[in-house]
Amino acid sequence: MISIKSPREISLMRKAGEVVSDVFRQLGPLCVPGVNTLELANKAGKIIRSHGAIPTFLNYNGYPGIICISVNDTVVHGIPSKNIVLKDGDIVSLDVGATLNGYVADACRTYVVGIASEETKRLVRVTEECFYEGVKLIKEGVYLGDVSNAIEAHAIKNGYSVIRDYTGHGIGSHLHEDPYIPNYGKKGTGPVLKEGMCLAIEPMVAQGSYEVRVLGDGWTAKMKDGKLSSHYENTLVVTKDGYEILTNSKEIK
Ligand code: MF3
Ligand code: CO
Repeated sequence: MISIKSPREISLMRKAGEVVSDVFRQLGPLCVPGVNTLELANKAGKIIRSHGAIPTFLNYNGYPGIICISVNDTVVHGIPSKNIVLKDGDIVSLDVGATLNGYVADACRTYVVGIASEETKRLVRVTEECFYEGVKLIKEGVYLGDVSNAIEAHAIKNGYSVIRDYTGHGIGSHLHEDPYIPNYGKKGTGPVLKEGMCLAIEPMVAQGSYEVRVLGDGWTAKMKDGKLSSHYENTLVVTKDGYEILTNSKEIK
């Protein structure tokens, strides 16, 4: 069942979203050569807790990190480590969840580290475009399959593939709620969107094949072909004539 959030719940989601936005605002500029991913995660934890919020992913199903940090051919669920040091030309995705007053916001940004190739920058740009190509269709009455279809179509048009083993999801008082939201699909299928649904839409886009393998740590998901993959995510609420993104607020509140 897909829950419909009340105006009160949506305002709590918005507050949680501001915490996630603040993490990107502060950590984006720190994604530079020489920084290790454990330092970034510890800093994210400080920011999240400074707002009275809790890092949602820590211990979620046993996940050991404060946030997920995934470099290059790691697509999702990278575990922060002092041994993973950023270098020129890398891409690094920061996937951040914050729970505030019982409500969760979840979002991801991929940053280019130092000097990178045009092709690397194109992958990151196209992944963000995939999100907006899908999301621009959202309003009450639209099939979720239309959104999924538009995300994949934009990736394919640019010569990329979308990861199939991981999806977006409904979100609210739990990180993962109904529905699950694949980044591929058929138009005119799936649930019909209604005002008040809260969704985390998260295209994961690969330069090569979409096949993924999970390392022995049980989490780190890497591209089988070792090519780059990029990830972009926001939590949003469906409205009568569109949507409101809850995890990209610009000002510090
Ligand atoms: N954005 C990811 C998701 O929605 C992050 C979850 S990581 C986990 O699934 F550790 F919490 F599982
Ligand atoms: Co998510």
